[in-house]
Amino acid sequence: MCGIIGVTGAADALDILLDGLERLEYRGYDSAGVALVGDGAIFQARAAEGTHSVASLRAMTQLAPVTQVAGIGHTRWATHGQPNETNAHPHLDCSGAVAIVHNGIIENHLELAESLVAQGHVLASETDTEVLAHLIEDRLRDGVDLEEAVRRALAVVRGAFALVVMSSAEPDLIVAARRISPLIVGVTEQASFLASDIPALLDRTRDLIALEDDQLAVLRPGSVVITDLEGVLVTPTPLIVEWDLEATQRGGYDDFMSKEMAEQPRAVADTLRGRIDATGGIVLDQLDLTDEQLRAISKIVVVACGSSYHAGLVAKYAFERWARIPTEVDIASEFRYRDPVLDDTTLVIGVSQSGETVDTLQAMRHAREDGAHLVVVSNVVDSSMAREADGVLYTRAGPEVCVASTKTVAAQMVALELLALHLAQVRGTLEDATLAEHLVALGELEGLLTIALDRGDAVAAVAEGLADASDFFFLGRHAGFPTALEGALKLKELSYLHAEGYPGGELKHGPIAVIEPGCVVVAVATGGPLREKMLSNVSEVKARGATVVIVAADGDEEVASLADFVLMVPGTDELLSPVVDIVPLQQLAYHLARHRGLDVDRPRNLAKTVTVE
Ligand code: F6R
Repeated sequence: MCGIIGVTGAADALDILLDGLERLEYRGYDSAGVALVGDGAIFQARAAEGTHSVASLRAMTQLAPVTQVAGIGHTRWATHGQPNETNAHPHLDCSGAVAIVHNGIIENHLELAESLVAQGHVLASETDTEVLAHLIEDRLRDGVDLEEAVRRALAVVRGAFALVVMSSAEPDLIVAARRISPLIVGVTEQASFLASDIPALLDRTRDLIALEDDQLAVLRPGSVVITDLEGVLVTPTPLIVEWDLEATQRGGYDDFMSKEMAEQPRAVADTLRGRIDATGGIVLDQLDLTDEQLRAISKIVVVACGSSYHAGLVAKYAFERWARIPTEVDIASEFRYRDPVLDDTTLVIGVSQSGETVDTLQAMRHAREDGAHLVVVSNVVDSSMAREADGVLYTRAGPEVCVASTKTVAAQMVALELLALHLAQVRGTLEDATLAEHLVALGELEGLLTIALDRGDAVAAVAEGLADASDFFFLGRHAGFPTALEGALKLKELSYLHAEGYPGGELKHGPIAVIEPGCVVVAVATGGPLREKMLSNVSEVKARGATVVIVAADGDEEVASLADFVLMVPGTDELLSPVVDIVPLQQLAYHLARHRGLDVDRPRNLAKTVTVE
């Protein structure tokens, strides 16, 4: 959730911290802070003004030490304790000589705090994090150095952490450690850096390393040493970063969401690029599963959250229809608590744009314990999930800054459908000609997305017509159902309006009771065998006074008589249609949010990467 930045060996440490924190703002945060070592002491500044906190920090830091040896900074999204200044990071020990920032959750913080208080420590905040500062202070009293004190402190901690520590006693040293929450370190000749996310460091260095679980990094100016938590040296693998900083900026659009929606054709094309050879063979070389293993799969289980879960639901139709493999799609946070039946013929696919969502990561770990094969579909190279899975299928959507996922979801659907066709190819469940047709249809999505996106003005006009509405139902059937769920999620998270997604046929089993004049029903009816039935469901809500918006395929003249508004999209293969059909629903959510004066890139209460359970 939170963002971390740190540097040692740069005279302009404070500027580096504040610039880095600004680049991390997209993750969502409610408060921010920095600490600097210089002039023999630790200087600390914190602000809790929501999304203005980093700007406030800039104003507060004229008092910073003239000599800046090292510094750490943090943007916080509250998990324990209110989002106020006292709870903002960095936190200090009793003496004010140790400063720490932390992402994750210390599960045993209450018992640790109790024993620290009994020993005379004074804890100033309500956070789970602060106990770490006092634990380290306590270990330092044994006469060990900071590195050893951090190791000893972590030995009694349960939970997840990306922890970064400085001390005025060892001014140019930063000690960092990771378990579950991501942490990246980087180095140049003069300075060393660390951050929770790659974009925060890209303008400083491309020599980056992602810490693995239970690793500790010792940063000094121009040098980084990585060990495990016992102190055994490890040889890190350098991180390959293909993105440039420019790619993380808005590129002329009003906001990241518009930019990222517009990037969907490229995201989809890049995800397919190089994965279909000249003979029509599908090449997924990082999958790391032999054809024999792929043929032995008896069941697929997709685990994911939010929009990635919706991409998984879309893929279920493809895995079952094309590859004839029974498929379950689970909300990751529920998966491991239902005692799922898994074995070495189960393929578990984690889907996550960030590759860091802790619920999905833990679901995958559970599946590993039960012997399943693990594959992850991730947009972030070397993400935690990518490192833990047997195989990876990277979506190549580029960095997504807007909190609401758009281009990454399109890329996920396409990656998963390509995987379904690969399984079908290896297992021989589709005729060659049929498979070739599907591959052609996948290749055409780039152009169809461009056409759908170009109709944004028509969607803006529909949004204008719905500006006073506050209740939305999104209906779909078959592959249109996940599209409806995703349309409802986009609308509620961006506009804060009430929106629900339902399978059209489920309406009469309850939800229809709330349909009345003023309700808006958005029906996805772009084709497939259930189009007629979908239109019958639309008639039912129309008869009860709902305002009806229909998403229909080009050439479908019939829908006009049933709808108050029609959103036309280019038609495609019914299992691929969600990739295109979601575009006007993204745009509808976008325009309704803008109409309400809301920040589309940073919806309230949400964060881009959810690294807490
Ligand atoms: C909604 C959205 C979230 C994410 C969910 C999973 O627009 O972005 O619902 O899809 O938090 O995140 P990842 O894909 O990073 O695992």
